[in-house]
Amino acid sequence: MILVTGATGGLGRQTIDFLLTTTPAAEIVALVRDLSKATDLVRRGVDVRQADYFDYPALVQAFRGIDKVLLVSAVAFTDRLRQHQNVIDAAKEAGVKHLFYTSIQRSTHFVMPEVTESDLATEAYLKASGLIYTILKNGYYFEGLGYLIGSEVPDTELLFPAGEGKIAFVKRTELAAATAALLTSAGHDNQEYTLSGSEAYSFHDIARELSALAGRPIVYKSSELAPYIAQKVAAGFPEVVANFFAQWGAAAKHGMLAGTHDTVERMLGHKPTSLREYLKTTYFPGA
Ligand SMILES: NC(=O)c1ccc[n+]([C@@H]2O[C@H](COP(=O)([O-])OP(=O)(O)OC[C@H]3O[C@@H](n4cnc5c(N)ncnc54)[C@H](OP(=O)(O)O)[C@@H]3O)[C@@H](O)[C@H]2O)c1
Repeated sequence: MILVTGATGGLGRQTIDFLLTTTPAAEIVALVRDLSKATDLVRRGVDVRQADYFDYPALVQAFRGIDKVLLVSAVAFTDRLRQHQNVIDAAKEAGVKHLFYTSIQRSTHFVMPEVTESDLATEAYLKASGLIYTILKNGYYFEGLGYLIGSEVPDTELLFPAGEGKIAFVKRTELAAATAALLTSAGHDNQEYTLSGSEAYSFHDIARELSALAGRPIVYKSSELAPYIAQKVAAGFPEVVANFFAQWGAAAKHGMLAGTHDTVERMLGHKPTSLREYLKTTYFPGA
């Protein structure tokens, strides 16, 4: 039995969708905190169980009879480590054998507050737990690009504080497909994989592709953090959120998200989505 947490979120739900293409629904368990968001999973025959990462007894109950757990990491700006420790401890108490954890890609030692600190602590805790572990260091989602640079094509200038840094973006659905393939194949005991795209792109590359698609010059301008944060605040984002976006720029500038690895490509059996394909379908639908 495979249990996927965060099953009403993006990655968890999509991973279950892929699992259902190869695995009987009776062997899949979805962990959710709000049953009303999971009625379609119930309809598809998935065993839906309820627990919050903060509710230890409910987690132990939910993990009974499970062999493998995919722990979809908790959201930033919450006590991620406490939640992850609860899940790991409860899995152990309930007799789970193998736990997969979705970390963020770390191709350098850059430490990003709210994200890598709790990932590092979770990974150490998991390794010390005695459970079989598989750590999935997920690349930055293509779907997150719009938060960083806006969801409209910029007129002439793309402002972002990433310097010459690159990101090996990966589509969340492709991450989910690769994750489902890893969950259902052997040989991943006590392994760590970086699930990045196969190519890394700079923000010059993004501006160049947008120029080509829009048919007008769009230039990337690397900024300091403050002007970028001010621009995002002026666009209506709370300062804490604007600052979080800027931190991804700093992470990119330091190469944290730039490493390219072939695990996603191998698991998919084809090249993952390219920058041009992603920008075309997202910013120029129907073109
Ligand atoms: N690599 C990247 O670019 C990237 C981008 C964003 C996030 N992430 C990380 O990857 C994770 C998965 O991404 P995603 O896109 O699937 O995020 P998402 O759509 O926000 O899904 C997060 C899931 O976690 C569940 N969850 C949150 N807190 C919980 C709690 N206390 N107890 C039980 N369940 C809880 C949510 O439940 P509800 O459905 O009830 O809200 C949701 O199902 C995120 O949580 C975050 O850690 C990575």
